Order: sequence, then structure tokens, then C-alpha cells
Amino acid sequence: MKLLNLDHVGIAVHDLDAALEAYRNRYGVDPLHRDRVEAQGVEEAMIPVGGSFIQLLQPLGPDTPVGRFLAKNGEGLHHVAYVVADIGAALAHLEETGARLIDREPRVGGRGAKIAFVHPADLAGTLIELVELSEA
Ligand code: CO
Repeated sequence: MKLLNLDHVGIAVHDLDAALEAYRNRYGVDPLHRDRVEAQGVEEAMIPVGGSFIQLLQPLGPDTPVGRFLAKNGEGLHHVAYVVADIGAALAHLEETGARLIDREPRVGGRGAKIAFVHPADLAGTLIELVELSEA
């Protein structure tokens, strides 16, 4: 198991349209994908920056993981996502090494990728997302 790329940095926002407009005006970047991911309770936009993305996350309601995060912390850095080649093997390795996993099995995220989260209490207070990109 080895991390292959920084896929994206996830940032929680109250208003996705306003945040996208601000990124366009301040930093000259535009989203490539925008998805409503019901399973995660978010509307997300992926802004390409070089080989990685900024992922802006707006919760679909207050009683969602990102909704609770915003209520507690306000807007800001939510998670860091790394690409792995085989997410099943990565999760098995992490479990073997005693990592505190949020997901024992991968789920489907935006762009049809397989994703899984590792708890921020596991390492340096950072919520980590593992991403296995789809072939398409
Ligand atoms: Co993410």
C-alpha cells in the first residue's frame, strides 16, 4: 500500500455557488465536475488545480456529516484525499496496522470513484479519504 497522488483537498462551505464564484474571481479557476452525492449528504464541486483538485462541499442538510462539521467548526479544511491503486488492499493493510477506520468497506463517491475514510483521531487530526479512481 502506497499513496500515489494528492487527489483533492476537501473544504466545507455553506454556499457552494458563492464559494465557486469566489474561487473564479480570486483565483481564476472553474469546476470540472459538480455532483450531488446523496450517500454522503453533499453537493460537491471539483476544481482542477494542476494534477489535483479542490473539492468544495456543501451539506444537503444540517443532519449530515458535513452539516455537523460546519455547525461545530465553521467553513474550512475538512479532509485530504489520496489516490491508491487498490482500495480494498489499502483498507486491509490499514486494518492490519491498527488504523482507526471510518469505512471498513469502500463506498461510491463523486466521479464514480471508490472511496473510504480514515478517522482524524488516527493520525495528526486529519480526516483522510482514500480514492480508487474508476477506469472510465
Ligand atoms: Co473528498
